[in-house]
Amino acid sequence: MKEGKAILSIDSVKPGMSTAEVIFNKLGNVILWENVTLDENMIARLKNLGIETVAVHPEKPKITYVKSQSSQQFMVDYERDVMAVKQIFQNITSGRTLSSQMAQQIVDSVLEHVDAHRNIIESITQVRNIDEYTYYHSLNVALLCMLIGKWLRLDDQSVRDLTLAGLLHDIGKTQIPLHIINKPGKLTDDEFEEIKRHSEYGYNLIHQVDGIPSEVAIAVLTHHEKEDGSGYPMGMTGDKLNLYSKVITVADIFDAMTANRVYHSKDTPFKVFELMQHGSFGVLDPVVLRVFLDNITHYYIGTKVRLNTGEIGEVVFMNRMNLSKPVVMVDDRYIDTSVSKVIRIKEFL
Ligand SMILES: [Fe+2]
Ligand SMILES: [Fe+2]
Repeated sequence: MKEGKAILSIDSVKPGMSTAEVIFNKLGNVILWENVTLDENMIARLKNLGIETVAVHPEKPKITYVKSQSSQQFMVDYERDVMAVKQIFQNITSGRTLSSQMAQQIVDSVLEHVDAHRNIIESITQVRNIDEYTYYHSLNVALLCMLIGKWLRLDDQSVRDLTLAGLLHDIGKTQIPLHIINKPGKLTDDEFEEIKRHSEYGYNLIHQVDGIPSEVAIAVLTHHEKEDGSGYPMGMTGDKLNLYSKVITVADIFDAMTANRVYHSKDTPFKVFELMQHGSFGVLDPVVLRVFLDNITHYYIGTKVRLNTGEIGEVVFMNRMNLSKPVVMVDDRYIDTSVSKVIRIKEFL
């Protein structure tokens, strides 16, 4: 996966390049981990910190992705794509076969935003319309799969197929009665068993459709399998699962937990990272999880938070071993919330 590295002066480092080594500041503290894809803000921060050279992975030739756009344009495209996902789901509910052309058009649109990491992460954490949860969730998982595929340095065709698999992973939910999908209370055992069949229903809906690669259909079938064999429908272990399936599982859990946070509680995204890191032993693929966390957590540097002391500060460093407790700068003081016994982050602003 790694093809050597190039040492570049900071002025030659461009957004989209990824770090080939850990970057330390003058005090020996880690500023950025390896394999983190850089954006303009991160490069500016490195300059501010006096970093002169950066080891990056050699650049691959870019294919015809459109450059990153303004966040307003991104949101217009995002809402349009959610509606297109809804259309695909509704077509299937009304008995039509999947149009792989329609699905590929959404994938094209998703891939156009490949450099808009911040916009993607912001859109995923915004409040959604609960009635249309599945459509937002499908698009979010597609966007996250694309990002993780890039961070894993997969080739362009694999990123495309992975994005398609993310988009279609819950397509089988079209076959589950609505009263079960929308049931507000606790599901009965039978209802839960029915929901669990959406992976198989999804596979059945797409595996014979022209233009859908077989690995994509397999990933849809296995997206609720777990590394330790505790998943469904077959109880397969990690060594039998394809990479797309492992990536979808990470993206799926992150989006579901983030949505849960939006609807139900005031947990910070840091708490979500922490739960993924520590609540998932044996469940998520460790390499995929590490690459995901190392990259995505950097987008929260600069975030404003309120501490339990009432003070407002800015996240300046993510603690890799304790992702829910970053270092926060308040005025000119650095507070390491992983060390302090009394100070903690109360709210994410
Ligand atoms: Fe699912
Ligand atoms: Fe899902």
